[in-house]
Formats: sequence, C-alpha cells, structure tokens
Amino acid sequence: MDRRRSGQATYVAPPNIALIKYWGVRDVGLVLPNNDSFSVTLDRFFSRTRVRFGPAQGPDAFRLNGRVERGDRRRAVVRMLDEVRARSGIDAGASVTSRNNFPTASGLASSASGFAALAGASAAAARLPTDGRSISRLARLGSGSACRSVFGGFVEWKAGHRADGRDCFARPRFPAGHWPGLVDLVGLVEDAPVKSVRSAVAMQSTVATSPGYPDRLREIPGRLRRLLRALRERDEAEFFTVVIEECDSFRSVCESTRPSLDYLTPPSRRILAEVREANREAGTPIAAYTHDAGAHVHVFTTGPNVRALARRLRRVPRVARWISVRPGPGGRFVGGPSGRRASR
Ligand code: PMV
Repeated sequence: MDRRRSGQATYVAPPNIALIKYWGVRDVGLVLPNNDSFSVTLDRFFSRTRVRFGPAQGPDAFRLNGRVERGDRRRAVVRMLDEVRARSGIDAGASVTSRNNFPTASGLASSASGFAALAGASAAAARLPTDGRSISRLARLGSGSACRSVFGGFVEWKAGHRADGRDCFARPRFPAGHWPGLVDLVGLVEDAPVKSVRSAVAMQSTVATSPGYPDRLREIPGRLRRLLRALRERDEAEFFTVVIEECDSFRSVCESTRPSLDYLTPPSRRILAEVREANREAGTPIAAYTHDAGAHVHVFTTGPNVRALARRLRRVPRVARWISVRPGPGGRFVGGPSGRRASR
C-alpha cells in the first residue's frame, strides 16, 4: 500500500556539524541567512519521525522519545504542520511521533535532524513534493541548519540574494565517501549548560551588536572557496587550517556580542588548546576543532592520527564521553512507498 495515500509517512534524518557557520539572517520569517554555510552530515545518529494526518480535525499531538510534549517543542512542531496544511489544503490535526537515537541535549544538533525528519515525514504525509530540495526548504523554516541534514556527505547552503528566497537552498557538494580517512571525534563535555537563548534569537543579537560581524561576513566567501578546494584535493593542512580559522571567527563574534554569548566551558577550551598543541608538535595541522552554539567540541582528524589524538584527548578532564563519527548519508523515507532516499 502507498502509505502516503493514507496520510502517513516516516522519515529518518541525521545531524550535521557546520564547518562554515550559519549565524545571522536577513529574513526571520523565511529563514534566509546572511551568508553561505557548509557542513558535514554525520553517520550513526538520527531522528526518526512519523507523521499521520487526520482523519478528523483536532489538536496536533507530539511525542518525543516516548514523552508527550506540550511546551515550546510542541509549538515549533505545530508551526511546521501549519505550514504544511496551508500548502496542501489539509485541515486535519496530526499525530507526530519522533525518536532520537542519541540524547536530545547531547549537542549533536537534534534540532537539525529533528526538523529535517519532521519536514520529510509531514511533506510526504500531506502529498507535497518530496524531492530533496523541497524537503530541505521546508526543514529550513523549523531550524535553519536542518536544511543541510536532508543531504548526505558535505553540504553547502547557498544564502541567495532574492527577497522571496528562491535562490536560497542547500545542495550536496561531495558524497559521504569522498574522504574515507576523515573522522570526527565528538567530545561531550560534562555539565554543558542548557542554552538560555535560542540560536535563532542569539544570532540576531550578534548581527546587531558584534563589532566584528561585518568583517566576518566579508571573509566568509574566501574561506568557503578555500575549504572547497582543500576538500576537493583532500589537502589536510589547508582543511584543518580553514576549519579552525572559521570556528575562531564564529566564537569571536559570539563573545563580542552584547551581552556576550559564551558557549564554551573550561573543558571545551582545554580541548581546543590540546588540538592547537598537537598541531604545533606535529609541525603541521593534523587536526581541527569546531563547535556550534554549545559547549561540546568536534575534533576532525584523519586515519593515521586518530589513535594518538584520541588518547591525548581522553586525558582531558570533565569530558563525559568521546564518540567517533564519520560523514554519512542524508535523510530517507522508511516504511514508505519504496523506502527511497531523498538524496545523498
Ligand atoms: O539551525 P539553528 O537555528 O539551530 O542555528 C544553528 C547555528 C549553528 O549551529 C551555530 C551553525 C550552523 O550552521 O549549524
């Protein structure tokens, strides 16, 4: 049976980590960013979401990891369902069941995987277009970075210039297997503070108050070009250099925001210092750190250096867990018409 005809669909989507960060929008409603961004889609982890519309009108129900959600999380889900209802003409309520195979507050970008999964499942359940780009555009409205989680491997999100957002979209640039030796060691630090201000709000206070933000915007196109060239040629030294440079630029505009956005904790800063020291000792960049708007840190390195670096990083106190991940596939339908992938 074509499950989409019964108004039900399930979509699975992974998290991603940005190497060039999205931080600042030119249109809040359409989530049109100020700059292009670039990320790696991660394997091992995913959000799996089932959406079923109707048959009757009624309030939307949202269950996350087995718990009925009633507050802000439910409101964000209802906003996306309203958008899907407006586009499809459906007026029934929906039941949404979502599961993450990783802790929701672990810093593994559950909002990106969560909104990508919700966008895929609700679009298919409402019989809206389900090609990768359409799902990605819908996902963006829930959480900007979610638009990149629909695709696998290395993904670019073009900011575009148009007011209607038609030239704003995400697209895959290199497949997940492009650089087989590349590994991301994710350090989940202890006592990572829970975000007090949502990223979507925090980034706009950076735009308004950080003195370094205009310079950052000017630097990003050149940095993205260097990153793409380094990736194409698997040039480790340049890749790690650019990733660190970008992370430092992101952190600097966050910290110079008024009031300051200080996402890192002492163990996070210690991880950054260990990576700098490992690069200094090696005489060439062998690793790069990056982090999002949170205290957990991603450390990228390649095959020959993984063991020694992991040993070194494990000695950093107050890191609860190290998880090793790699570039992975994008979102996909499961249990649906053909279980096909949206795109890789
Ligand atoms: O997608 P949001 O609204 O949660 O913002 C994400 C912002 C960063 O994670 C810091 C950067 C990015 O590009 O993912």
